[in-house]
Amino acid sequence: MNLTIDHVSKRFGNKIALEEVTLVLTTGVYGILGSNGSGKTTLMRILASVMKPTTGTVYLNGQDIVQMDHQYRELIGYLPQHVGLYKNFTAEKLLKYTAALKGLAKEETNKKVAEVLTLVGLSDVRKGKVGKFSGGMKRRIGIAQALLNDPKILIVDEPTAGLDPKERIRFRNLLSQISKDRIVLLSTHIVSDIEFIAKEILMLKNGKMISQETPQTLLKGIEDKVWSVLVTEEEMLYYQNNFKVGNINRVQDKCNIRMVSDSKPHETAVREVPNLEDLYLYYFDEEQPEHATT
Ligand SMILES: Nc1ncnc2c1ncn2[C@@H]1O[C@H](COP(=O)(O)OP(=O)(O)O)[C@@H](O)[C@H]1O
Ligand SMILES: [Mg+2]
Repeated sequence: MNLTIDHVSKRFGNKIALEEVTLVLTTGVYGILGSNGSGKTTLMRILASVMKPTTGTVYLNGQDIVQMDHQYRELIGYLPQHVGLYKNFTAEKLLKYTAALKGLAKEETNKKVAEVLTLVGLSDVRKGKVGKFSGGMKRRIGIAQALLNDPKILIVDEPTAGLDPKERIRFRNLLSQISKDRIVLLSTHIVSDIEFIAKEILMLKNGKMISQETPQTLLKGIEDKVWSVLVTEEEMLYYQNNFKVGNINRVQDKCNIRMVSDSKPHETAVREVPNLEDLYLYYFDEEQPEHATT
């Protein structure tokens, strides 16, 4: 299976939300990384076929998805960034209702609902009202809904927003588990969400796909750019204004600051092993502090 995105652009009036995006996706988890407004949701809506590109074409195994129409939609599971759940429905009822909307046959529905409930680990609470569920459980029921039609392509937009760390891990593992024979696309601006499960990371910046690489290759690309320096509090301001600064640790009366920089920031700077947080900082930091001058 391959999903080919061929020179896809999307405009909203004068605003170019996506510009000439070209990619080929096969089975596995892909992480779409980009700051707010970079075009993640727009790309996902196009791939979920709820929106058409202004120019360019998406092909599934060589067929234009716009022409495939409902044939394509049947292969899609889409969990939008903001979903409303019927609060008074039980988990089971909600899934049965969704199954009916998706046109699943009655005989098939019970079996399928039980199957997805097990998969997302909510069988025990199937009689519980979804309005009472935790954030993580709500996200999992959302995934269960998206999985009812056994989609070949699963698209989840910022699924871990608002989840606690434990729920996040559980959710990641769930996505990883179901990606065996599917394309799973996951957008996030939280790098740890995709660090361990993504086969490739797609980096979107101002509507442009700036890279499509494995996490390992991306990290290798910045292996000589991550540093830490021990500085005084007065010196810290200088670094914060002139470098892409990550974590700051207080060490007695000094501060150890981590930063990404093409050149060695100070003669005492020590090289650090890069992680994806550094990567994010390296590519996206300029959108962060409008630094306080004068
Ligand atoms: N329906 C729309 N009408 C006008 N502008 C839009 C619309 N949807 C998205 N945009 C704009 O397109 C850009 C990309 O948005 P979006 O895809 O939502 O980014 P992300 O999901 O990465 O935050 C933003 O500048 C946003 O304001
Ligand atoms: Mg979005």
